[in-house]
Amino acid sequence: MTHILKINNLSKHFGGLKAVSGISFGIEECKISGLIGPNGSGKTTTLNMISGLLTPTAGEIYFKDTNIVGKKMAEINRMGIARTFQQIRLFPELTCFQNVLAARHTREGEAWWHPIVMPKKSEAEAKKSRQKSLEILDFVGIYEHRNTQAKNLSYGNQRKLEIARALATEPKLLLLDEPVAGMNPTESEGIVSLLKKLRADGLTAILVEHTMNVVMNICDDIVVLDMGQIIAEGKPAEILANQRVIDAYLGKRGGKGDA
Ligand SMILES: Nc1ncnc2c1ncn2[C@@H]1O[C@H](COP(=O)(O)OP(=O)(O)OP(=O)(O)O)[C@@H](O)[C@H]1O
Ligand SMILES: [Mg+2]
Repeated sequence: MTHILKINNLSKHFGGLKAVSGISFGIEECKISGLIGPNGSGKTTTLNMISGLLTPTAGEIYFKDTNIVGKKMAEINRMGIARTFQQIRLFPELTCFQNVLAARHTREGEAWWHPIVMPKKSEAEAKKSRQKSLEILDFVGIYEHRNTQAKNLSYGNQRKLEIARALATEPKLLLLDEPVAGMNPTESEGIVSLLKKLRADGLTAILVEHTMNVVMNICDDIVVLDMGQIIAEGKPAEILANQRVIDAYLGKRGGKGDA
């Protein structure tokens, strides 16, 4: 088994609040690993540290054997880690196509407005970028909306565009923060099959998700957080049967017998 990502004793404190408190785990290549836990358990904070949005208070994050702690978000992105956000972040006035193109240019180390202000980098490269952007829109299923402004998309399609923007950077590891939140069951199934296709193509993903049937349906491995700490790790069936996990979700903390 190859770990594409290894997290070592990672912590993030906000003043006195220990949002993440000394967690360690590995992520296997070409798998979808679930990162689950009750509200406020530290899931988004963990993704924020991996993607470079937040600097850890302590610990290491190894991506293919390089410690990426302290690196900037754009650099981590160029190394092959992309993410989506719990709160959708798009350029509302730009079309779907422009949104994806802008994300590609971030990867190439240019300002997002580069293709608008300075269209000629090299015509061949620009053409490749445009083609790739259209392919990605097709892959996530919103090609027909390529010329629609992001603000005019349905909620489900905005979520797909978020994923398209992350894929635009051609990542090896994709971090997904509640990609089906607020979706209806049909839209949610669409995302699940999309993620399965990506996995079949060799992508590795960390999926933060509350919807249990989505998690159980798609995740190869699961890490469970509660109050910033790992309380369980294992296969979906093991997690479902784990008493600590059940207690954390039902809010029955403390009082663990006589121990
Ligand atoms: N920038 C911040 N400043 C202060 N506290 C924060 C900050 N970000 C997160 N927290 C706190 O850290 C804890 C973990 O938050 P986090 O967003 O990681 O939880 P989560 O597991 O993603 O929850 P949810 O399922 O609700 O999205 C919470 O108590 C939250 O209020
Ligand atoms: Mg969160």
